[in-house]
Amino acid sequence: MATVIETPLSVIGQPQRRIDGPLKVSGGATYTSDVDLPGMLHAVPVCSTIASGRITSLEFAAAERMPGVRAILHRGNVGKFFRISGNSMDTGYVDEARPPFDDDVIRYYGQYVALVIAETFEAASAASAAVKVGYDVTPHDVSDELTLKDEPKVESERGDAAKAFDSAAVKIDETYVTPVETHNPIELHATVAQWDGEGYTFYETTQAISNHQGTLMQMLGLPKEKVRVISRYLGSGFGGKLWMWPHSLLAAAAARHTGQPVKLVLNRKMMFQNVGHRPVTQQRLRLSADAGGKLTSLRHDYANHCSLLDDYSESCGETTPMLYSTPNLRVTSGTVRRNVGSPTAMRGPGAVPGLYAVESAMNELAVKLDIDPVELRLMNEPRVDESTGLPFSSRNLVECLRTGADKFGWSKRTSAVGSMQRDGLTLGWGVGACAWPAIRFSADATVDLRADGTARVVCGTQDIGTGTYTILAQLVSAQTGLPLDAIEVGLGDSALPAGPISGGSAATASLIPAVSDAARAAVKIVLEKAASLEESAFKGAKPEELAFSEGRVHRKGEAALGGVPFAQILQAAKMHAASGNGSAKGGFDDPLKKKYSIYSYGAHFAEVTWQPEIAQLRVSRVVTVIDAGRILNPCAGRNQIEGAVVMGVGMALFEQTHYDSRNGAPLNNNLADYIIASNADTPALDVTFLDHPDTIFNELGARGIAEIGLAGIAAAITSAVHHATGVYVRNLPVMIEDLL
Ligand code: MOS
Repeated sequence: MATVIETPLSVIGQPQRRIDGPLKVSGGATYTSDVDLPGMLHAVPVCSTIASGRITSLEFAAAERMPGVRAILHRGNVGKFFRISGNSMDTGYVDEARPPFDDDVIRYYGQYVALVIAETFEAASAASAAVKVGYDVTPHDVSDELTLKDEPKVESERGDAAKAFDSAAVKIDETYVTPVETHNPIELHATVAQWDGEGYTFYETTQAISNHQGTLMQMLGLPKEKVRVISRYLGSGFGGKLWMWPHSLLAAAAARHTGQPVKLVLNRKMMFQNVGHRPVTQQRLRLSADAGGKLTSLRHDYANHCSLLDDYSESCGETTPMLYSTPNLRVTSGTVRRNVGSPTAMRGPGAVPGLYAVESAMNELAVKLDIDPVELRLMNEPRVDESTGLPFSSRNLVECLRTGADKFGWSKRTSAVGSMQRDGLTLGWGVGACAWPAIRFSADATVDLRADGTARVVCGTQDIGTGTYTILAQLVSAQTGLPLDAIEVGLGDSALPAGPISGGSAATASLIPAVSDAARAAVKIVLEKAASLEESAFKGAKPEELAFSEGRVHRKGEAALGGVPFAQILQAAKMHAASGNGSAKGGFDDPLKKKYSIYSYGAHFAEVTWQPEIAQLRVSRVVTVIDAGRILNPCAGRNQIEGAVVMGVGMALFEQTHYDSRNGAPLNNNLADYIIASNADTPALDVTFLDHPDTIFNELGARGIAEIGLAGIAAAITSAVHHATGVYVRNLPVMIEDLL
C-alpha cells in the first residue's frame, strides 16, 4: 500500500499490560459458565460406567419424577445430528467425529449415554445420578503398552539410517515413554445454547469460534448464518478447547427440545473423560555418531494410542528431521486403538513428547561420547533444513544454547554423576533444545477510525488468555500512533470477520498482516479525505504527500504535533468513521513453507537438587532462551514461556493420568489426585528472548511463542536428574521410586 506511516512502531516490543486485565481481576469479564439467560435450564449428562460394551436398558422413571426435571434426552429422542464432511480445518474439524447417542455401543468410560435437563444444576445432577443404565459388558483395553499391528508410516527418510547405525562407532538405542496427560485449565468446558426456532446462539469455551461454527452448522444441518458462536473470555484450554466436543451438540439438542436456553458445564471428572487428552507415546530412538560426536544416523519410531473410532496421531516426529544435521534419518509413526475418548492436541502437540525423546537421546549420546551436551548440539547444527533442503527463514539455536549456557553458568559443570554439591544438596544440571513450527492461518479484520478520536478493531478470533486483546490494540496503535486506551477491541464472536484459531502458537502471526492492512486502509481513507476537503489545511496536497502519526494527519517530513487530529478531518467530512479491511492468507499449505523452513527455537538449562537422605528431588532453577523472532509484547510473551516451563516441571515430575484396569476409567480424575506443578514446585525462572525479527514470515518479524516453552524442558530435567543421581528415567514422570 502506498500510504506511508511515519509512526515509529514503539508500541511494538514494549511490555504492555493487558487491556482486559482490570476487567478480569475485578470479575467483570463474563466467561461462558457466567452466562445467565432468562428462562435458562441446566443440563447434566449421564456418563457410561463401563469402557466397552452395549447399552441394554435405560431406566428414567425415578429420575423423571424428581423435582425440577424437564426432560431426559437419549438416543430415541435427541433428534438428528449429521456427520461432518471432510473433517478439515477449512470447513470444520473435530477429534471425536461420532455424534453423541449415535448408537448403543460404548467405546470408552464416561461416554455420554443420556442427558438430564432440569430447572437447576442441582436438580439435573441429582436426576442424572438416578438414571439407571443396563450394559452388556465386553472386554476393554486401556493398557499403555503399545505394539503396532500395522506397518508404521514413514514420515521422513534420507540416506540409509539402518546401515549407518549398524556400522557406527558410538550408538544409543533407547525407548522413551510419556503417559496420558490431561488438560486441566481452571475453566471447565461449557456451552450455553439458545435456540430461537430457526437458529442458535452458542456461548462456548472454544479456542476456535470459526471452526466451532463450521462444525456445528454441519452437524446440526443449518446454514452458517443460523449458528453464532460467542467466546469473549477463556480460562485457558491448552488445546483441549480447540475442537468441538459432543457436549456442545447435546446442549444444542436440549435447547431445541425444550425451546429454552440450556447451560451445560462439564465437571472435572468429565474433563478427564470426554474432552481429549495427550495420548500415551512410546518412542524408540536410535542415534549413532562417529567418535568425534558427528551424528551419522537418527531413527525415531514412535506410536501413540488413539480411540476406537478416530485416528488422532501425536506427531512426535514434527521437528526431528530438521533439528540436527545427519546424512541418514528415518522417522516412522503408528497408532494403537484403545478404549479411551479421543486424544487431542495438548500444548505443543507432537513436539513436546517428541523432543522429550529426541533431546533425551542426544543427552544420553553425549554421556556415551563423553562430550558436553551443549557442544554435541553445536557440533550437529545444520546449515539448511536437511529434510527439505530449504533455507531457514531465521534460525538462532546456536545463540540460544550459547546465551543460555552463559546465563546459567554451564562452564562450571563437572560431568561426573553426583560431582556437584551446594548447601549439602547434590546438584544436577541438564540441557534440552526446542523447536516449534511457525504457523499462520488466514484472518480477516476491520479497523474503524472513529470521529470521536478513538479506534475500534474487530476480528473473529478469541483470546485464550495469552493476550490477544492487547496484541490487536498494539497492532492498531503501531499503525496509527493512538494510545492503547483509545482503541476498542472486539473479538470472540463468529459474527465478526473470520479470524484464526488460538492454537499452534499461530494467532499473533496470523493477525499481524490482516490487522496492519486494515489499519492502513482506514488511515488511507482519512488521508484521502484530508487532501480532498475544501476547508482542509491540506487542500491541494496529494494523499501520498501526507502522513498519519500520533493520531494526526500532517505533511510528510513535518512533526505530527503540527498536524490535524484525524477526528477533526472525519468531523469536517461528516463521517462517523473511516473503515478499513484487511485480509491475510495462511494455513498448513502456506506457500511460503515451500520456500523456507520456518521455526522458532530455544534452549532450556535446568538445575535439580537431590537430597538422597530424604529422597527429595526439586527443580531449583531454569534458564530458558527463546528465538521466536520479534516479541511484540515481552510482558505477555515472558509469561507464556514461564507458564510453559512450570508445566514442563509438571510433565517431568508429576503429570500422569492413570486408567483403572478393572473398568477403564481415568482414575485420578480430579485436581487432588492429578498432580500439576504448583507455586511451591516452581523453580527460579530466567527467560530471555533473542531479538532477531523474522521478516520473511511477516512485516513485524514475529513468530509464535507459547507452545515452544514446553518442548525440550522435560529432557533438560531428566538429564539433570541423571547428572545428580546416575539414574536415566525414560518413562515419565520421574518417580522417587525410580531414584532409590
Ligand atoms: Mo495448542 S495444543 O495448539 O492450543
